[in-house]
Amino acid sequence: MSTTTQVGGRERLAQVVPDAIAAIHEVLERHNVTEDEWYAALEFLKEVGDHDEFVLLSDVTRTSVLIDALSHGADESATPSDVEGPLYRPDPPWREAPVKIYEDYEGSEDGDVLFVRGTVTSTDGTALPDAVIDIWQTGPSGGYDIWDERQPEFNFRGRFGVSERGQYEFQTMVPKPYTVPTDGPVGRYLEAIGQHAWRPAHIHFKVTAGGHQPLVTQVFFPDDPYLENDTIGAVKPALVRPLERHEGAERGHDVPFFTCNFDIRLRPSG
Ligand code: BEZ
Ligand code: FE
Repeated sequence: MSTTTQVGGRERLAQVVPDAIAAIHEVLERHNVTEDEWYAALEFLKEVGDHDEFVLLSDVTRTSVLIDALSHGADESATPSDVEGPLYRPDPPWREAPVKIYEDYEGSEDGDVLFVRGTVTSTDGTALPDAVIDIWQTGPSGGYDIWDERQPEFNFRGRFGVSERGQYEFQTMVPKPYTVPTDGPVGRYLEAIGQHAWRPAHIHFKVTAGGHQPLVTQVFFPDDPYLENDTIGAVKPALVRPLERHEGAERGHDVPFFTCNFDIRLRPSG
């Protein structure tokens, strides 16, 4: 960290933290919080740390959505960003074209094959042939690979490039809605305040290209029961994309499959 960053960091700390503490004091006074209650709150935060659930707590309290909005603002010429969440795994396998990001497993047989495709461009429409796309999502059963012993490591995850015209396509399966982890302190918090733990089905994207701001976002699908009611409040209408059903006998498939178009526009940096 450079000295400038440290000084800037210290200034921000001095600006923001005293205000945050004053806001907490105001709430403690308004609710006449007792010593026992305050120590229980501190113990809860310790448990959140012990379980590595601070990002999850930030997500379910919709703090991550607020920070995303403050950090990336509205720019209608670019693809909207969205919350990263705690389930990204660095260094996913590189997938060569034709890109397929999963292997079948016991439980995937009832799912539907999905091809997601689009073009990565700058906000002015120029194709970005050096773009790299990173995907992570749940399968049609069992959730993320890290929760599901039946799935090989890095199933439904992968990183790949685009064509000279910025085009990409990958084969995956249509994800299903799932619950965020509920077996730790954040799960107890959700239950205590009566907030459900469901997220609508979605696919996470992380996209980078030279000279452009990296984009972290998610794609959602219409008619999902949790679209209006995501536990982390991260659905943006511009990120909801239709799934088109095909009756098979195309692309060598003998069963119906789906396609979804998602063009990505990155903001130039600087
Ligand atoms: C996710 O979409 O992967 C996620 C987001 C917030 C909390 C837990 C999971
Ligand atoms: Fe997710």
